Amino acid sequence: MTLGIPNHIAIIMDGNGRWAKSKGMPRTYGHKAGADTLRKILTYCGELGVKYLTVYAFSTENWKRAKEEVDALMFLFKTYLKNEKKTLMKNNVRFIVSGRKDGVSKDLLKEIQNLEEETKNNTGITLNIAFNYGSRAEIVDAINKIIENNEKNITEEIVEKYLYNHLPDPELLIRTSGEMRISNFLLWQIAYSEIYVTETHWPDFDKDELMKAIESYKKRDRRFGGVK
Ligand code: IPE
Ligand code: IPE
Ligand code: MG
Repeated sequence: MTLGIPNHIAIIMDGNGRWAKSKGMPRTYGHKAGADTLRKILTYCGELGVKYLTVYAFSTENWKRAKEEVDALMFLFKTYLKNEKKTLMKNNVRFIVSGRKDGVSKDLLKEIQNLEEETKNNTGITLNIAFNYGSRAEIVDAINKIIENNEKNITEEIVEKYLYNHLPDPELLIRTSGEMRISNFLLWQIAYSEIYVTETHWPDFDKDELMKAIESYKKRDRRFGGVK
């Protein structure tokens, strides 16, 4: 028996910089190409019947990068929000962002909030963009809220209630560009996710690559600690 299409796919969209370098171009050129890839992959996921797509776009550690690169990433995200509005509405996509607000400009926060508001009743795929996201930060924020709310008898369900969003856990985690690490992404939620790593850099990730990842997932034997 093979598994069906995953309900929730999470992607660490890595390798934009290396892709650009291999073409003798600046890193920001890679980030621009990466935004185009996201647009295409979101469409394929919607067509395949995937319900949730979570993508890692900017980590709490990415602030360490050169100011020009950080500024370019902020600008690119803002442009993405503006340009995609129509398409997201047309394709019935619900758009949400997970991450801390600290350090993100008021402008950008406003754009995020507007798009979340505008798309909140859409019933197709949910696009969850992890932006200024760190999983340790998410867990710390949850613990602080648990204390503030004076919760007692903490269970896994209570911890989940205080995480940034309430999507089902991803069945499949994809990382592009070959690194065998998690880089502070969804530490709680990927407890039992199936991991797929490809050498392909994110800007070159396409429908065939997505299908390869899904085909690999379908053949997995998910035991969740049990015996089959
Ligand atoms: C992923 O690509 C995008 C972000 C982290 C914002 P990178 O920028 O990390 O590209 P590489 O890993 O340096 O090639
Ligand atoms: C993870 O990639 C973050 C995003 C894809 C947004 P990084 O490029 O920041 O991760 P490391 O530094 O290689 O672990
Ligand atoms: Mg990287």
